[in-house]
Amino acid sequence: MTGNAETLATEAHDRAESQAFTSNLLNLVEVKATDLTSMAEALFIVSTWGDGEPPDDAVDFWYDLETAKLDLSGLAYAVFGLGDKDYPEFNGFARLLDERLVALGAKRLIARAEADLDFDDTFAAWSEQIFSSPRSSPRICDHKSLTT
Ligand SMILES: Cc1cc2nc3c(=O)[nH]c(=O)nc-3n(C[C@H](O)[C@H](O)[C@H](O)COP(=O)(O)O)c2cc1C
Repeated sequence: MTGNAETLATEAHDRAESQAFTSNLLNLVEVKATDLTSMAEALFIVSTWGDGEPPDDAVDFWYDLETAKLDLSGLAYAVFGLGDKDYPEFNGFARLLDERLVALGAKRLIARAEADLDFDDTFAAWSEQIFSSPRSSPRICDHKSLTT
C-alpha cells in the first residue's frame, strides 16, 4: 500500500468533523465485518491490489464479509475505489465490496466511484456529493470513514 487510501480517508474524516459529524477514522485491519451491524453510516475508501484483490489490510475483513450472513439493513454507505486502468480488474475490490454490501441489505448513499491514478478530481466530486447533500439522518450521527 502506498498510502493513497489513507490520505483520502483522512481528508474525508477531516471534512466530516468540520461539518459537525462524529467521525471515526479506521483502517479495515481494525474492523470486523460484524462491526458494520452497529454503524449507521460508513464511507469505504479502498484500493485494489494483486489481480483485483483487496489490499493486505483488508484481506481478513473481506473474508469475513464474504462468508458472514449479516443483516446490514441499518447501514448506509458509499464506496470510493482507488485503482489503475492498466490492470484488467480495474477497481475490482471496490466493486466486490459495493456489491456484497448491497447483497447484505446495506443502502448506497451515492453511486460507487472508481478512480484511476489521477484520483484528485474524482475524489473531490465524490466527496462533494457526500458532504453537500442534505441528510435525513441526525446532525450528529455515527459517521465513519474507513480506509485500508
Ligand atoms: C502490485 C500492484 C497491483 C495492483 N493491482 C491493481 C488491480 O488489480 N486493479 C486496480 O484497479 N489497481 C491495481 N493497482 C493500483 C493501486 O490500486 C493504486 O495504485 C492505488 O492508488 C493504491 O492505493 P493505496 O496505496 O492506498 O493502496 C495495483 C498496484 C500495484 C502496485
